[in-house]
Amino acid sequence: MIPAARGAARARSNIALVKYWGKRDRALNLPAVGSLSITLDRLWTDTRVEFSARQQHDEFLLNGERAAAEATTRVSLVLNLLRERAGQRGGALVESTNNFPTGAGLASSASGFAALVAAAAQALNLRLQPFELSTLARRGSGSAARSIFGGFVEWRRGERADGLDSHALPIRPPRDWPLQVVVAVTSTEPKPVGSSTGMSRTLASSPFADAWIKHQEADLDQARSAILDRDFLALAEISEHSCLKMHALAMSAQPGLLYWSAATVECMQRVRALRAAGVAAFFTVDAGPQVKVVCEAAAVTQVVAALSDVPGVVQLIETGLGAGVEVMEPTAPLAPVGSSACA
Ligand code: DP6
Repeated sequence: MIPAARGAARARSNIALVKYWGKRDRALNLPAVGSLSITLDRLWTDTRVEFSARQQHDEFLLNGERAAAEATTRVSLVLNLLRERAGQRGGALVESTNNFPTGAGLASSASGFAALVAAAAQALNLRLQPFELSTLARRGSGSAARSIFGGFVEWRRGERADGLDSHALPIRPPRDWPLQVVVAVTSTEPKPVGSSTGMSRTLASSPFADAWIKHQEADLDQARSAILDRDFLALAEISEHSCLKMHALAMSAQPGLLYWSAATVECMQRVRALRAAGVAAFFTVDAGPQVKVVCEAAAVTQVVAALSDVPGVVQLIETGLGAGVEVMEPTAPLAPVGSSACA
């Protein structure tokens, strides 16, 4: 082992327009369904990894504080895969900062694991293809597979039992269709039931699980076509459908999962009213109470005006579509915690 090997990377968060919910293999983190997302420009994780012969165990600092044991174990699991490929041993010090609220339904695990694999691969001098980074990031968190790429991204479910074909692929770069996103933050508290637990409860107990899986390929086909045609209304319809269907499925688990607050519902109603009035905007919501509104650039001002006085909305973040993972100088400063600009 080289005495100290360092790497650093920045990865951006993503939001799914056609949702991933449910796993077919928990150990390999293989999804029951494919999914499709957009990568966000202004919400990111910066991660620095330093492997050292002196370091006995992996240490994980998240936003400047020692992370919980469970989070450190998940990081170690992913680092073990990279260490194995590199034929290296030795622990790592991992420092990660998010410039947005962590664990509150803003996909910090997506940007986090995408940044982690890219930084660790650089530190270990592994020259991996983006799809290989995506497969590795998936092992940390499914949605992280998509944050390796920028713009519009599809994560193929894959068919293989070993999961090697279950990785993301880019569909269109941001410049092809520069949509904007307004994130309405309604709570910065960590969500009560994490995605992994929520998904396994749902597949084990919802009477609608089979129907969810059965219709996903058709939803993906529709979303892909809408993106290729740059057909905003078609993308709006399929995205809201997938979002509401995922939440209906989660609500039908036992006990039911309810990620929304009153503010979430009010934001969704206002976005629907805007669209009915001809404004190019639609909503999507993940496993938390935040509402992400996707819109054309000309609609941002109207979206912000419509959401800013919703009771319970504590912050509005405006962002465009962003790039895939980028390696950084290992000595570069990490993003200041919680620095993303407010509208
Ligand atoms: C609702 O990727 O967080 O955001 O693979 O268990 O880490 P794990 O799940 P995660 O789930 C994301 C679920 C979602 C929908 C989506 O991003 O597609």
